[in-house]
Amino acid sequence: MDELFIEKREGVLIRHPSGWKILFFSAVSSTSSILHQWAKKGEEEGLVVVAKRQHQGRGRQGRSWLSLPGGLYMSLLLRPTTAFHSVGRIPFLFALVLIQLLRESYSLPAVMKWPNDVQIKGKKLAGILTEMSVDKHGRSYLVTGIGININQREESWPHDLKGQTTSLAQELQVDLNSNDLLFFFLQRLEKAYRMFLQGSLDPVAAHLQYSATLGQRVHIKNGTGDYYGQAVEITPTGSLRVDCGGGIIREFFTGEVTARKMDSF
Ligand code: BTN
Repeated sequence: MDELFIEKREGVLIRHPSGWKILFFSAVSSTSSILHQWAKKGEEEGLVVVAKRQHQGRGRQGRSWLSLPGGLYMSLLLRPTTAFHSVGRIPFLFALVLIQLLRESYSLPAVMKWPNDVQIKGKKLAGILTEMSVDKHGRSYLVTGIGININQREESWPHDLKGQTTSLAQELQVDLNSNDLLFFFLQRLEKAYRMFLQGSLDPVAAHLQYSATLGQRVHIKNGTGDYYGQAVEITPTGSLRVDCGGGIIREFFTGEVTARKMDSF
């Protein structure tokens, strides 16, 4: 499937071999916002909204998500049959699938920075945002959006993102076909999601070998303040436990993490 195919199929439903139903757009406000509209009306699990650009991409903690051409922006509708307390593990599932795909197909040293960034050599390659809501029938659902930097170039990033963000093209020195990546990602995700529902895959435990945060000295900023310490555990539900010294272990459910050099404490 090439870029032209996407253009021709604008807004038309396509069925991926592994069961996902995909709606392609060249540009939308936010793939997650569009998918929420479908979900609210009662759409079943498995719908995916994909766009090549977003005008109002949303990031975590109310931030915007810069969605330049060259990136891949998608949101997936899930209605997991497992307890909804497993919601915090879904971003780990997405990150795990992407990390393993990048490692196996492109030999890239992809890792996960808690809570849900995929990084390569310390630079952000992808971000994940999971939102839970209720449809008009009172049924819960999850919309998980993922933005992956694929063919953006170093010079296209605004000043404040330069040096902090990367793309696959920057890492591999070659442009990639984003449709191939999308299709392989969805194929792997379907398998991993099925295993997750069956209880044979624990994405939090499985991601630990790729964690860029565990064991690091960290600075965590969240709504209540700034905290410093050593990241000692990522719990089974995905929260981060930090040894802040003096016998104090704090547990974080969200926040911005910066890894610190040993001598900065
Ligand atoms: C983050 O802050 O790191 C999470 C970013 C999530 C961005 C993706 S792009 C596709 C989907 N649509 C959105 O508006 N946001 C998510």
